[in-house]
Order: sequence, then structure tokens, then C-alpha cells
Amino acid sequence: YTSKDGLLDLELEASYRQVNLDGKPTNLLSYNGQVPGPRLEAKPGDIVRIRFKNNLSDPTNIHYHGLHIPPTGNADDVFRRIDSGESALYEFSIPQQHPGGIAYYHPHLHGYVADQILGGLGGMFIVRGALDEIPEIQAAEQTFLFLKDFVVEQRQPMMGRMAGREGDLVTVNGQVNPSFSIPAGGLARLRLVNASNARFYRLALEKHPLYLIATDGHPLSTPVEIQELLLSPGERAEVLVQGDQEAGQYRLLNLPYSRGQMGMMGGGMMRRDRGGPGMMGRGRMGPGMMEGNDQDSPQTLATLAYTGQVEPQSIPQQLIEVETLPEPQTVRQFELDHGMVPGQGMVFLINGKSFDHQRIDTQVSLDTVEDWEVSNTGVMDHPFHLHTNPFQVIARNGQPVPYQAWKDTVLIPTGETVRIRIPFRDFPGKTVYHCHILDHEELGMMGTIEMK
Ligand code: C2O
Ligand code: CU
Ligand code: CU
Repeated sequence: YTSKDGLLDLELEASYRQVNLDGKPTNLLSYNGQVPGPRLEAKPGDIVRIRFKNNLSDPTNIHYHGLHIPPTGNADDVFRRIDSGESALYEFSIPQQHPGGIAYYHPHLHGYVADQILGGLGGMFIVRGALDEIPEIQAAEQTFLFLKDFVVEQRQPMMGRMAGREGDLVTVNGQVNPSFSIPAGGLARLRLVNASNARFYRLALEKHPLYLIATDGHPLSTPVEIQELLLSPGERAEVLVQGDQEAGQYRLLNLPYSRGQMGMMGGGMMRRDRGGPGMMGRGRMGPGMMEGNDQDSPQTLATLAYTGQVEPQSIPQQLIEVETLPEPQTVRQFELDHGMVPGQGMVFLINGKSFDHQRIDTQVSLDTVEDWEVSNTGVMDHPFHLHTNPFQVIARNGQPVPYQAWKDTVLIPTGETVRIRIPFRDFPGKTVYHCHILDHEELGMMGTIEMK
């Protein structure tokens, strides 16, 4: 679905659907019968009108993760509830100054988010922009990769809600190991979304470096050469790949990564050392215990095949200037942790509190800049996401970061502190920040923010 004459107008229906996944019919939740949902595409200045119908048996809503639009009304109100059988209109305009990049639409009604995302809901929302006009990028072979795992073979997900549930089938665009062909000598532009409930992807392409050109919905100033790319749930990225002159096939791999884990022994929480011999071993730990998502060997996600021949293309040197933000007027601290609450079991907490939609946790003034120091004192990694206003990461554990980039979701590994700088702009209203392992969000790791 692409906008025409300044308007992106569509019907979107959430419903149950039997979809073939890796040759097996699987019952999923779909948007318009598709998993992933249809790709939507618009440009700054366009009006977006989504006539939504909820044909699920539970309530739901839609969040436009990564779009800088009002968190209120018919735009991006995550407190809105669309009951089973109801229709609703979403209508908003994409601001003229909006950067081009990848956004991600998905359900966001607290209490239902994790199940609905794990069940299959979600889709890409592309905003076209200045990056698309750079000649080398225009000439590159554009490939969309929507990374998502599903529960198919087992009746139970691989891990419990506390660890964050992962499905046993990992797909790209709903397919197992799809193949993408790239003209030999040309550039490939991979546009990636981690649309999983809890699974992390540590991506590497065999024998090729990746050139990072955009993080979340925003271009970088210059490409950054990387050997691998870690994407936690909710994060997006774009990379260029320099194609070989000869034909060949290369696997896009998902390398092992431990996002931390915990177990309960004698009722206590145990910390596992990352990468070293820990108190908790690898492998199954028995009923009632939680595991991390260690995979022992790389998985193949997709295959890039170089075919044909084009004029050699090179990586562009200059992209889109990233704004330098002024010093903050306010600095706040956020601590991510978990704890046992008698009668409630395990809860996930931000500054000692579990989510309450009626409480305002953070009040900010529009047209100010704030630094947030987010620390993770728990035993599992948490991808921290703020709605409406993107931010820049300033430092990790007190060390400045190597390059400036906009983000809306940033990984806070266990034991680390990340300092982010946020300009609050344009839109008053109430919205949220939370862990994007959606089971953790459901278990309480979400706070409310009011901007005025
Ligand atoms: Cu992608 Cu609050 O969500
Ligand atoms: Cu979001
Ligand atoms: Cu988390």
C-alpha cells in the first residue's frame, strides 16, 4: 500500500488466519490475512487514513512505532481500546520534517500486546525521505527483511513469560531462509525490523561487512562499517552490502547471543555471568525455571545470491546530517529491575514501580531537552523504548558513543547504564516508555509520560 496524491488510505482488518509456515498450516493472527501484515508506505506531508476492523475475539489497537505523530486522538493513542467486532478510524498526517526510514506498526493494548505480537501481528511502515534520493542508494537493490519467530512445532513457546517467549520457527517475511538476488557488482540495501516478541538477532553476512546507514527510523551522517549487527525487539536498521563481481551465494546468519537469564533456586534470583562459567549452566533447567536464549550455533536467516552483472557501485560517503542536540535542561534516572511481589509473583519494574495506566510517572515540558540515564540492575537485557520522540544515545557506562545516531529503542544490557538525550517536540499528551521484550512490558516494565 503506497500513498497516492498525498493520501494513504486503506482498510486493515485484524483476524485469525491459517497461514502456511515452512509448509505447515499454522493458526496465526493476521492483518488483512497476511503475516507479516502489508507494508505501508507514505512520505512526509501525506495523510494516513486506516479504516481498522477488529475481528479478533480480544480487544486490540494499533501503535505506529517510530512515527513522530501525536500520541492522542486518532493518531497514536496507545490507551485506546478497540473491542472485538469494532471498527475504528486512524487518521494522521506525517509531519513535513519527518525523516525517511522504517517504522513498525503493531498492537499495543496493555495485557494483549505480547500474545498478539507473538501470534503474528505487525507490519512495516516505510516513510520515504532524503536517504532514498542519494544516487548510490537509489541504485541499490532494496530488500525488506521483517524478522519474526512463531510458535509452531511445540504447543508451548520455548521460554516462559519471565524470560520472554520465543517461537521455535524463525522467519524472514514469514518465510524460512528466503533467497534474495542481488545484481553482481551492485549494492544491496537491507531494511530490517526485529518484530519478535523477545528474540534478539545478532546478524552477520558471510564474507561481507555491513555498512550501517540508518538506525531505527533515521539515517546516519556517514555509513559505519560493521561486522555484525545486534537487533533487539523493536529495533530497525538499514545496511548496505557491497556486491561481489562474481556470482555467489552468502548466508545471512543469526549468531549466538545470550540476553541473560535467571533461575529460581531456593526462591532466590541468580545472576549468570555473561560469556563465562556462570552459576546457571546452559541447557534445560527443569520445570519452573527460566532459560536465556542461548543458541549454540549460528542459524541461517536468509540467503543473498549474486546474479547477473551491473556496473560496479560503491558505498556513498555522505548520507544525511544528524542534528547535534543542545545540553539537557533536566537529567533523570531510570532503573530497570524485577522483583517478587507476594501474591503477584514476579513483576518487572521501572524505578521500583510496575505499570499503572492511571499514574503519571514522568512529566516533561515541550521544547526542552532531557538526558535520561537508564540502568539495568537486573539479570536480563532490556531493550528500552520511548514513544513519540526519538533520542540520541550519548554514552554507555560513562563512555561516549563513537557516532551520533537517532534511536527510539536502545538495548540496556544487564549491569549497564545508557545515557540518552531526548528533545521533546511538537506533541503534547500522554504516552509510554517500556521494555520492548513485550512479555516484560506486560509484566509491568512500562511507565507513563506526560508532555505539556
Ligand atoms: Cu513498538 Cu510501545 O512499542
Ligand atoms: Cu513504540
Ligand atoms: Cu525486558
